Amino acid sequence: MCGIVGYIGSKSIESVLLVGLQKLEYRGYDSAGMAVLNGDELVTRKAVGKIAELEKLLKSSPLIGNAGIAHTRWATHGEPSTINAHPHLNNQKDIAVVHNGIFENYAKLRAELVDDGYVFVSETDTEVAPHLMDKYMHEGFSSEEAFVRMLKRLEGQYALAAISEKAERKIFFARKGSPLIIARGNNEYLLASDIPAVVPIAHEAIYLENDQWGYITPAGVTIFNGNGEKVEPAWQAVSLSVEDVDKGDFEYLMLKEIYEQPDVFERVLKTRLDDTFIHFPELKFNKDYLARIGRILIQACGTSLNAGMIGRMYLEQFAHISAETDYSSEWRYRNPLASGDSLVVGISQSGETADTLAGVREAKAKFMRVLSFLNNVNSTMARESDALIELMAGTEIGVASTKAFTAQVLNLLFFSLYVGSIKWLLPAEERRELLDEIRALPDKMRQILKSHERIKEIAEFLKDKNDTIFLGRTYNYPSALEGALKLKEISYIHASGYAGGEFKHGPLALVSDNVPVVIIAPQGDIRAKMISNLKEAQSRKGTIISIITEGDEEIKKESDFYIEIPKCAESLSPLLVAVPLQLLAYYTAIARGCDVDRPRNLAKSVTVE
Ligand code: F6R
Repeated sequence: MCGIVGYIGSKSIESVLLVGLQKLEYRGYDSAGMAVLNGDELVTRKAVGKIAELEKLLKSSPLIGNAGIAHTRWATHGEPSTINAHPHLNNQKDIAVVHNGIFENYAKLRAELVDDGYVFVSETDTEVAPHLMDKYMHEGFSSEEAFVRMLKRLEGQYALAAISEKAERKIFFARKGSPLIIARGNNEYLLASDIPAVVPIAHEAIYLENDQWGYITPAGVTIFNGNGEKVEPAWQAVSLSVEDVDKGDFEYLMLKEIYEQPDVFERVLKTRLDDTFIHFPELKFNKDYLARIGRILIQACGTSLNAGMIGRMYLEQFAHISAETDYSSEWRYRNPLASGDSLVVGISQSGETADTLAGVREAKAKFMRVLSFLNNVNSTMARESDALIELMAGTEIGVASTKAFTAQVLNLLFFSLYVGSIKWLLPAEERRELLDEIRALPDKMRQILKSHERIKEIAEFLKDKNDTIFLGRTYNYPSALEGALKLKEISYIHASGYAGGEFKHGPLALVSDNVPVVIIAPQGDIRAKMISNLKEAQSRKGTIISIITEGDEEIKKESDFYIEIPKCAESLSPLLVAVPLQLLAYYTAIARGCDVDRPRNLAKSVTVE
């Protein structure tokens, strides 16, 4: 949802900013731009489209300098165009601003500035910032004072950076709501929306708090809080490596992340499980409190909500806690009822999703406790929740979430079993068998990954379709939703997921010989009911693609295509079913020539409501 980078140092400014932007491209790719101070001269380049377009432009019109800011955009106010691309400038073109977020009062500010004689060239909310800074500098304030006065006028949420010809070799920054980090390498300083942008250079970073602002210069970083008091920089080592944020030998990051899932599971298992006990070292809630939780309200968005829907079943089954789920954007506005024994669970890969964060704040406003399942434990949600559980999926950059999803489901499973064990709910033998099955999951996932050739064949068939239906029941109803979401977001084929039992109540009308139906029917209690769904679709000429437990000859015979998963307990099947569904979406998108890591109109980390 827009990414910003800034750099002061002696390396090639163009390359450092470009590499930073490339690592942030998952946040938006409608346009990109850069502004660089060369001595006291400010020079800007902008291009519509992906960062490769800006790179081409820089080849023909290079930039030199030693302080600069850059931006990759996910359009909110104004269509993707060169004019609307950041950095935005004042009328004299000597101040440049890049911004991630939304200035909610921009219309009012714009009208005021127009009255003052400022000429706006773009449709963006961001453009008010350089004009405001300019206005205060013309009133006689120093660049630093003008920056602070500008911040005081801006309402909404933002991470922003500004440079000015009058403040040579100084980059101003501020954070309110949207993430921003400051980093240092060898006598060089950077700022960025996310850590991957600084990994090639930086060894230490500071995660800014809300309302902090300041500047970087060649000599260091100065940070102030919202009251204007100086803050001691809290440097932390950067533990990510270049390989962690690179696609390596894979064609796309999404594929790399799909293949990382067995390793993620092994990491989670190693931390959470010893011979008999489940551990949550980072969980701040004590066992007495956990045993007393009467109700859990799960709020999340997109894929994370799909994981939450599986988690709800685990909580009911293994922890005997009544649980409900809702989209964060709905939950926070429907005046949710609070009771003393309710816990709100937020689930988020990024920990920065505006809707989920707003849900956390809504819960806190109602004095409800919040537990968040997060991949990014340095995120805003991590800071604002009462307790957190770390997903341990490793950095996920592909816009379509894969390894974070399965890590969410696995951690929800462990959490439910942990609470269940505090309450002595699961008989020892049953518990031992389930834990043994969980330990076997990484190898079973590896086995599924080997079936990619079969999945490619199905993708070849799917690639020419316009509509698809995904059906599942109980544990795999959310799998159907997730399979459909993956397919539509990266291949642009319309896909809908339904609970199998609901099929005949309406969606069945959609089935024809041109509408494939994906039947998720692993072994277990609901398999027979899924066969009924298969028959319903088959008798309307739907092409059947089934996901079955290996050796299920009966369903194989009835299917046009099938994908097998290894035998496992029904409750664990969504963890395995996710893998072929991800691969099916991936290979279908590839067969259609789509840019898998940069699906149109989307961005990872949706930091606006
Ligand atoms: C889909 C996808 C999104 C995210 C959603 C929430 O593949 O990635 O649906 O799951 O935007 O994001 P987080 O988990 O960061 O809150």
